[in-house]
Amino acid sequence: KNKIIDILSENIEQLDKEEIAAALEIPKKTDMGDFAFPCFKLAKVFRKAPNMIAEELTAQINEKGYDIFDKVVNVGAYINFFLAKEAFAKEIMNTVDTPDFGQGTEGEGKTVCIDYSSPNVAKNFHVGHLRTTIIGNSLYKIYSKLGYHVERINHLGDWGTQFGKLIVAYKKWGSKEAVEENGIDELMKIYVKFHQEAEKDDSLNDQAREWFVKMEQGDEEALSIWQWFKDISLVEYKRIYKLLGMDFDHFTGESFYRDKTHEVVEKLQEKDLLVESEGAHIVPLDDYDMAPCLIMKKDGSSIYATRDLAALLYRKRTYNFDKCIYVTGLEQKVIELLGYDWYQNLVHVPYGLVSMEGGKLSTRNGNVIYAEQILHEAIEKIHEIINEKNPDLPNKEEVSRQVGIGAILFNDLYNQRIKDVIFNWDKILNFDGETGPYVQYTYARCASVFRKVGAVELPAEIDYSVLTDDATMNLLKDLTRFPEVIKEAADKYEPFMIARFAVSVAQHFNKFYHETKILAEEDEEKKKGYLALLTLAKKVLETCIDLLGFTA
Ligand code: ARG
Repeated sequence: KNKIIDILSENIEQLDKEEIAAALEIPKKTDMGDFAFPCFKLAKVFRKAPNMIAEELTAQINEKGYDIFDKVVNVGAYINFFLAKEAFAKEIMNTVDTPDFGQGTEGEGKTVCIDYSSPNVAKNFHVGHLRTTIIGNSLYKIYSKLGYHVERINHLGDWGTQFGKLIVAYKKWGSKEAVEENGIDELMKIYVKFHQEAEKDDSLNDQAREWFVKMEQGDEEALSIWQWFKDISLVEYKRIYKLLGMDFDHFTGESFYRDKTHEVVEKLQEKDLLVESEGAHIVPLDDYDMAPCLIMKKDGSSIYATRDLAALLYRKRTYNFDKCIYVTGLEQKVIELLGYDWYQNLVHVPYGLVSMEGGKLSTRNGNVIYAEQILHEAIEKIHEIINEKNPDLPNKEEVSRQVGIGAILFNDLYNQRIKDVIFNWDKILNFDGETGPYVQYTYARCASVFRKVGAVELPAEIDYSVLTDDATMNLLKDLTRFPEVIKEAADKYEPFMIARFAVSVAQHFNKFYHETKILAEEDEEKKKGYLALLTLAKKVLETCIDLLGFTA
């Protein structure tokens, strides 16, 4: 592509390389060439009909004769480039065959913080948190691939008045045994009860506020109950992360910043941003059509936003990030008002909701849909499929987990993240659709070839002319896009680009595999070429799967 851009720019002085690059197309049909350049935009500059311009430029390029082309043909307003296939195949094979293919260097020496997952302690990990977890984890993989140092931060919701309520509820209606036995479910139950009772008796709310103030003041009893609730919740969360095969560098939740909020208050006062309102302290945001940001309550206790700001100041100081990505829909206005220029490096990465097709997914208590339940359901369903189709498969449990989790992750990542995710088990688990299992299946197919012939040493001396038929060329062209795709996925915070690419590679691979005899090929030169290509395709598929967060 770059070579064609160079050639075009030699021949069209009126356009710069960027304009040429933006216009250069890959035709849908291969009989229109490997690349096509439309001349419509040149009509104004040349004051000629686009067809004529295309005809003249084609003649000019042909006259100079570039050896990277098989032929250059004019059709209508287009210049169609047909590449010299053998040279092209060689070029791509050599580019793809590097140990760090797809690996970028743009992130070297730079740090990115990603704040994701971040469930609320004493509440169930629901499908919404599953989305931020899956998207955040894939962004971590993608940024790492580009050379960034990534800090994976789980900003647990583990501080706030809700814990005051929980303590009151526990003391009134809870029991140690029940909490130990039922974990978060029990905490949710007494929390709901608290709200029901508080409607009748407002003094419960006062008691809850008092308990939270005690927590903020370091009261031993309050803190030990809170810590216990937190530990119980973390056991459940960590079980889910383990199932997903994911991890974090920091579980620094809101409570971690409880002794760091005074800095926020001081800085806001320095900048004269804090206003007293009914005994509380707020930052008014009327100028931005936003509700005021509450910083300190009447009783002096902090709130979510205060701790969020404290977290940001801490992260900037501790990690000196070049970028801090929030996989949530929330926006940071106050930090901008504080006058830090690095507020521009805060990125909010919102995502759509999860909905259930046919509303069939069972929920345990009405409207909350538990992530863990969905994950187990996926794993079980895959297990059933394996029992039916391949009952003697060794390591069935682990394969079920890998494929089940892959199915869920892929479904989450296959569309732009702002789109809603729809759960439809038949679609998610379909081995022939655009799914995780399909990509894993393709990878496994590829791997089975090498199980039979053994690994292939690369670079191999190959006759590149064996890699020039359409199916092979299409696969090659796809592979060479990989670094660009990774970069774009990072720039746009869109893992779906990797997912789409993986399906495209898988489809091109399967077409190639279907049309080509590989193991039965008698011509050794051909076989060698195919196996070399297969080695590279396998590696790209494996990397894609890894970037999405599941296992090949
Ligand atoms: N705990 C919050 C929730 O469940 C998400 C926290 C996101 N991170 C942050 N720094 N505010 O919605």
